[in-house]
Amino acid sequence: MESADTPTLRFGIIGSAAGIAALHLNALAQLPGASIAGMADIAAERGAARAAEFGCPFFTDHRAMLDAVRPDVAVICTPHPHHAALAIDSLEAGAHVLVEKPIAVSVGEADAMVAAADRAGRILAVNFQQRFRPVIERARALVESGELGDLVRVLCVEPWFRTQFYYNSADWRGTWKGEGGGVLMNQGPHPLDLLCHLAGPPAKVWGWVKVRGHQMECEDSAQAMLEYPNGAPGYLHFSTVEAGLDRRMEIVGDRAALELVEDRLTIHRFSPSLSDYRATAQEMWGRPGDQVETVHLPGDGGGHLAVYRDLVAAIAEGRRPRCDGREATMSLELANAVIYSGVTGQPATLPLDRAAYHGLLEDLKAGKRTV
Ligand SMILES: NC(=O)c1ccc[n+]([C@@H]2O[C@H](COP(=O)([O-])OP(=O)(O)OC[C@H]3O[C@@H](n4cnc5c(N)ncnc54)[C@H](O)[C@@H]3O)[C@@H](O)[C@H]2O)c1
Repeated sequence: MESADTPTLRFGIIGSAAGIAALHLNALAQLPGASIAGMADIAAERGAARAAEFGCPFFTDHRAMLDAVRPDVAVICTPHPHHAALAIDSLEAGAHVLVEKPIAVSVGEADAMVAAADRAGRILAVNFQQRFRPVIERARALVESGELGDLVRVLCVEPWFRTQFYYNSADWRGTWKGEGGGVLMNQGPHPLDLLCHLAGPPAKVWGWVKVRGHQMECEDSAQAMLEYPNGAPGYLHFSTVEAGLDRRMEIVGDRAALELVEDRLTIHRFSPSLSDYRATAQEMWGRPGDQVETVHLPGDGGGHLAVYRDLVAAIAEGRRPRCDGREATMSLELANAVIYSGVTGQPATLPLDRAAYHGLLEDLKAGKRTV
């Protein structure tokens, strides 16, 4: 409900004819104090039709929209290779930015976006709405409380089935020029973000990327062996080939382990800790006590609307949003590292060599290398 204290914010939508823009517009319609000040899309006809629906001015050039409308917040809904340039233009025009996931296609671009936000003194938020799922909030609270103890092992296996029809539906899908990657750049960003949100980024990555079930340039299957800064191992696998099994994440700590399967969270609390029991038990086959609690926390926590509410509060309070540019760079860097390692056959160390990854991506776009 609006009150005298409700901040009024004017939003400019870039890529306003995008499929995903409908969810943004729906969220904004429910956000107190929000108005749509203008829209921009290079698709003149579809973009103008949507702007007419919302009674706001429309532009085929985002810079013209930024100049004419001076929005408080620019929302970027274009395919990912445009995210960096559009976000930097918007920040330089004085707007806060909410950009769709992934933040960009290469980690060097994400660095430039973060630097532009810092220079402009504006917020760069990234639309990782899954961070607001109740089950993720509960897992994150457990991690933040320190209850898990030192990291012991991580696993993330998520099938995100897609048809060939899906890849044929837009010419940018599944191409190096159009997306900068396949499953790792389109479906993978959500689980990669949650993995980094809960376990932090790994230090070393041995990646594998292949096309297994579609006609497309980029990987539809990706896996990686991970090593975390404390030496803990991890494994991830994403594909658009496989359906059926649930999405699964496991984060094992020395004092407690989390098992996340869709919206179900199982917490194992060890007593004593794994390390204490290993070192002190006077029997060969024993195990530490394992108190198990399972909670079912369904729902998306508000989806896009939750992201907007958090962003409005961050602007009002001068704080960081739940997922800002730096946070979102973690999952992009991990995706880039899996591709880099998978294509070169060498392990990748984080921080990833920005120039080396840029060179590899240019080779992939030019067809000089393939997966
Ligand atoms: N958060 C989520 O869960 C979620 C879900 C779906 C898509 N997305 C992200 O949203 C983005 C868009 O995906 P989509 O499937 O909606 O795309 P889409 O193909 O439906 O639409 C993209 C739109 O961007 C426009 N566009 C391209 N370049 C532009 C430019 N320079 N200036 C202005 N407009 C431009 C196109 O004309 C088109 O209207 C992607 O980055 C995708 O990863 C996020």
